[in-house]
Amino acid sequence: MKIRKAVITAAGWGTRFLPATKAQPKEMLPLLNKPIIQYAVEEAIASDIEQIVIITAMGKHSVEDHFDRSFELEHVLQEKGMSDALEEVSSIGNSSKICYVRQREQLGLGHAVLTVQDFVGNEPFALLLPDDVVRSEVPVTRQLIKAFEQRRSSILAIEEVPEERVSSYGIIKPRQLNGRLYQVLGMVEKPDACRAPSRLGIVGRYVLTPEIFPALEQTLPGKGGEIQLTDGLSNLLPDQQIFGYKFEGIRYDVGTPLGLLKASLAFALEDPKMAGELREYLTGLNLYAHPTSVSLDAKDLARLSVS
Ligand code: UTP
Repeated sequence: MKIRKAVITAAGWGTRFLPATKAQPKEMLPLLNKPIIQYAVEEAIASDIEQIVIITAMGKHSVEDHFDRSFELEHVLQEKGMSDALEEVSSIGNSSKICYVRQREQLGLGHAVLTVQDFVGNEPFALLLPDDVVRSEVPVTRQLIKAFEQRRSSILAIEEVPEERVSSYGIIKPRQLNGRLYQVLGMVEKPDACRAPSRLGIVGRYVLTPEIFPALEQTLPGKGGEIQLTDGLSNLLPDQQIFGYKFEGIRYDVGTPLGLLKASLAFALEDPKMAGELREYLTGLNLYAHPTSVSLDAKDLARLSVS
């Protein structure tokens, strides 16, 4: 069955970004000149998704405004002859693919997913958490859909996380099958590093079968008192196989100020309009001459595309 629908979660409080997120949604913070949620929408569309539902909550109106038409702004841009900006602004607002569901109480990611049960119905769907932005040749959602087409079971995007970060992720107990594909034998949300079954962490991209809904209905609040998607997936595991797919690409966790800063630098260094001046600026900071003094390791430098 084709994956036609995508769900994008945007109902969280964004506490790690306070006070910036006191009166504006985290999802509308900019990564260069686009709000972070736009990257998830573009990824879904590039993965041939036909319908997108964004889960919002109180105080998230600007997300809906962003993907709506703005006739006044379009008129102003036309009058000023700003044709590139006009084209960009009107194409964002022209997408008839997006609709919205409101999560009335923020009881966790698993609870948020339950709010779209009626929209999704009885078919598999993609789930994107906009706090993870992935740069890759093939959009990561498309990579997961391809793996789903082979296995016909839920697929979770996974990546190896550093030991000290294990306690921030859902971690899988893996059995490697072939290449990038792993069978998930078990899962645990945010384990202590010493108890983690591996270092393979679940990141914010999934293809899920509709059986996740009854599994989530049976799921009690877990870590942080929230209904965790990882716990719902664990409940599903006795009845259905679940797979992890080590996707190709670089993921940026833009859900924290430092993560967004790193992503901004990496994206800007790839942007012809900004790269030259930014490189000059970074060179001026003497990153190359004294890498240790600013604690940049080789991986940091690779992520920032500087060598
Ligand atoms: P996070 O764990 O990043 O929580 O949620 P958050 O509220 O967005 O941010 P912090 O931790 O307070 O800084 C992961 C994803 O799940 C969504 C968030 O919007 C984010 O996309 N989410 C979380 C919901 O939609 N509803 C919830 O009740 C909780």
